[in-house]
Amino acid sequence: MGLLGIIGGSGFSTLPEVEVIHREWVQTAYGAPSAELLTLSHQGRQFCFLPRHGAGHSIPPHAINYRANIQALADRGVTRLIALGAVGGIAPDCGPLRLCVPDQLIDYTWGRLGTFHDGTDGDVVHVDFTAPFTPALRETLLSAGAHLALDLRAGGTYGVTQGPRLETAAEIRRLERDGCDLVGMTAMPEAALARERGLDYALLAFVVNWAAGKAAGEVGMAEIESNLARCGDAVRRLLLAVATDG
Ligand code: HPA
Repeated sequence: MGLLGIIGGSGFSTLPEVEVIHREWVQTAYGAPSAELLTLSHQGRQFCFLPRHGAGHSIPPHAINYRANIQALADRGVTRLIALGAVGGIAPDCGPLRLCVPDQLIDYTWGRLGTFHDGTDGDVVHVDFTAPFTPALRETLLSAGAHLALDLRAGGTYGVTQGPRLETAAEIRRLERDGCDLVGMTAMPEAALARERGLDYALLAFVVNWAAGKAAGEVGMAEIESNLARCGDAVRRLLLAVATDG
């Protein structure tokens, strides 16, 4: 079984109570990743951790160096990557605090550096992306969740928006017509770059708000902050279960 990597999203700049055995600023051919790459140890098992938005949550979704993050993890020997993502809920059963393991995505982002094969490496490469999240790694998450009696939603389509602003109600209605169940800002180009580097990649999404227009009034930042904290325990337990068993 290859080395596991975890990309922490909003609310997960660290994994508290897990021993850090190594931390290092690495450089890649694509620049520096968002933060120091951490090697963590839990119950004798080691895994890597990288906070996508930086150690102090200072890098917005559109400004993340996704290529450096994926390259740094690949260089470290990571072969299986679980990404965390706070999302808004669109589908009726995707309300706040729901944990989801999506199986599809639609990319609405623009202007991000989304490939390692940008023409400068002399290679034209078209990776298959039919299933953007690796089925076996999704299953690992889902079965760990079942063991912990967590109510994980298996499947769903994640619409990836540009941010950093949240969406309009009309944009969310369009995403809904397109078939999106969830909306977030970071799964792309992360998932595609992981595929280009041959890494298994699955996303653990946790819903922190109803998407715009799906509940009365505006989307409240206080609600998002509080739900991020409330998801923390379940997300941490699930990750540690995968890190020690998977
Ligand atoms: N939209 C986009 N990204 C998000 C949201 C949202 O409503 N909530 C958390 N991340």
